[in-house]
Amino acid sequence: MRLLALSGSLRARSSNGAVLRSALAFWDGPTATADIGALPHFNPDLDGEDATPTAPVAALRAQVATADALLVVSPEYAHGVPGVLKNALDWLVSSGECVSKPVAVITASPSPTGGDHANAQLREILRMMTGEVIQAACREIPAIGPKIDPTTERVTDEATLSELRAALSHLAAATGTAASDLESEPAATSEPATTPAAAPASTAAAPHPSARP
Ligand SMILES: Cc1cc2nc3c(=O)[nH]c(=O)nc-3n(C[C@H](O)[C@H](O)[C@H](O)COP(=O)(O)O)c2cc1C
Repeated sequence: MRLLALSGSLRARSSNGAVLRSALAFWDGPTATADIGALPHFNPDLDGEDATPTAPVAALRAQVATADALLVVSPEYAHGVPGVLKNALDWLVSSGECVSKPVAVITASPSPTGGDHANAQLREILRMMTGEVIQAACREIPAIGPKIDPTTERVTDEATLSELRAALSHLAAATGTAASDLESEPAATSEPATTPAAAPASTAAAPHPSARP
C-alpha cells in the first residue's frame, strides 16, 4: 500500500516535517511526500476539464491518484489551515483524486492545543472532498518542541511515537476497508482527549462535488 504525505509547513526545520518523517517510518509500504510548495495559486480558470494542468498540479494529482492512503501533517496558522496546504487541496477538489481515499490528519504545535482548529478544519475540508477521514488515525500533538531531537529532526518522545504508530496502524487497517464499513463506525465526540498526542473527532462524509465549476 502506497502512502502519500502532505505537509502544511514549508519551513526547513519544521516540527511538522519531523512528525511527518517519524510517522512515515511506521508505514509498511512505499511512501512519498508531495512538493506542494511548487504549486501555483489555485485558479478555477485553470481547473476546467479543458485546461491543461501545470506540471506541479499534474504531478500532485498523479501522486494522489496512485496513493492508497493520504497522511496530512500540518501546523496551525492563525487558528486555520496554512494557505499552502489549502491551496494544494483546492487543486484536488474537482479533479477527484481524493474521493474515497483514506486520510489521516495530524497537527503539531508548540501550544497546548495541538493545532486543534486546523485539525478540525482539515478534517472538514477532506470530508467535503469525500476523502475517508479515519478518525482513529487523526492526532493533535501539543507542546511539540521538546518532543523532537533537533539533530535528527525526528520525534523522540516515546508517548508521541506510540501515538504515531497507532495512528498509522489505524490508517493502514482502514486502507483495506470499504467506505460503507467506515461509515458505520460509531459517531465521534467533538472533544479531543488530552493525551500527549490526542485523537480528534470525525464526522460523516459530505457529498462529493460532482461537477467542475
Ligand atoms: C503566521 C503564524 C501563525 C501561527 N498561528 C498559530 C496558531 O494559531 N496556533 C498555534 O498553535 N500555533 C500557531 N503558530 C505557531 C506554529 O504552531 C509554530 O510556528 C510551529 O512551529 C509551526 O510549525 P512548523 O514547525 O511545522 O513549521 C503560528 C505561527 C505562524 C508563523
